[in-house]
Amino acid sequence: MIEDVLLEKIGEVADSRVKDAMIYSLMAGGKRIRPNLLYQVLEGYGRQPSDGDEFAAALEMIHTYSLIHDDLPAMDNDDLRRGRPTCHREFDEATAILAGDGLLTQAFACASKSTQPADRIVRCIRILADMAGPDGMVLGQTLDMNENSSDGWEGLKRVHRYKTGCLLSAPLMIAAVLSGEDDAVEKWHEVGVKIGLAFQIQDDILDATSTAEELGKSNSDKRNDKVTGVSLLGIEKAEILMNELYSQSIEMIRSFERFQPDELIEMIRGIQTRRK
Ligand code: IPE
Ligand code: IPE
Ligand code: MG
Ligand code: MG
Ligand code: MG
Repeated sequence: MIEDVLLEKIGEVADSRVKDAMIYSLMAGGKRIRPNLLYQVLEGYGRQPSDGDEFAAALEMIHTYSLIHDDLPAMDNDDLRRGRPTCHREFDEATAILAGDGLLTQAFACASKSTQPADRIVRCIRILADMAGPDGMVLGQTLDMNENSSDGWEGLKRVHRYKTGCLLSAPLMIAAVLSGEDDAVEKWHEVGVKIGLAFQIQDDILDATSTAEELGKSNSDKRNDKVTGVSLLGIEKAEILMNELYSQSIEMIRSFERFQPDELIEMIRGIQTRRK
């Protein structure tokens, strides 16, 4: 479903080289975890998933932009993403920067076209901006670029909370607002932080233990001398912690009022056992 929604929303952009690059990266078949989290929470609250289409697409556009920029030579300098050459490799650096800019901006245009009640749309757009911007994912990416092993595990947790946790919290929080459950938003934020921490530890484990071919993306943490869950804790401890965090997130998910948790929990279990 999200594939069709993305194609429709990106199709509204005028033809250009930058549009080609946006489509190249967006439609390369990521796991679509963020849109699917949004849909699952809406369903758990008894809503139609399609109520969240514009926000689901916006989240995947913002996430894809973050990957395009994350892969640039000035950041992780990677060649492979979603099973294809990275955007700057396939096109060129200037086009990749602009494709990221285009996806970020188009995400907000798309979100503003939601047909949900206007007051809810405004609150959701605020969440999108907060979670994506300089108090959210962008903060995490700047902390990541300047991370120092002397900051230890507490420092790294902060990096993960922002660079990964924020964009995984946003779909949960937005779905709560669209469901009229504003009082639950902060608790969903906490759930997203737990999932984000688990997800990034797992990403670091996979980077250290899988080939680029298996992952469909470059595994460059070692080359880049990154401080990661694996470099600080070792694989065994990192795995234990990751599993604990997923379990904690599931316990929290069971405790929401008026929420049917089974499908979402099944989805989290699927993420927990992912190989890429
Ligand atoms: C990769 O995210 C970046 C991280 C936050 C670790 P995903 O693993 O969700 O990437 P795609 O969307 O499936 O490509
Ligand atoms: C980046 O983390 C997360 C983003 C905000 C894009 P990584 O640099 O570990 O993500 P991958 O491994 O390249 O997908
Ligand atoms: Mg990175
Ligand atoms: Mg990277
Ligand atoms: Mg990684």
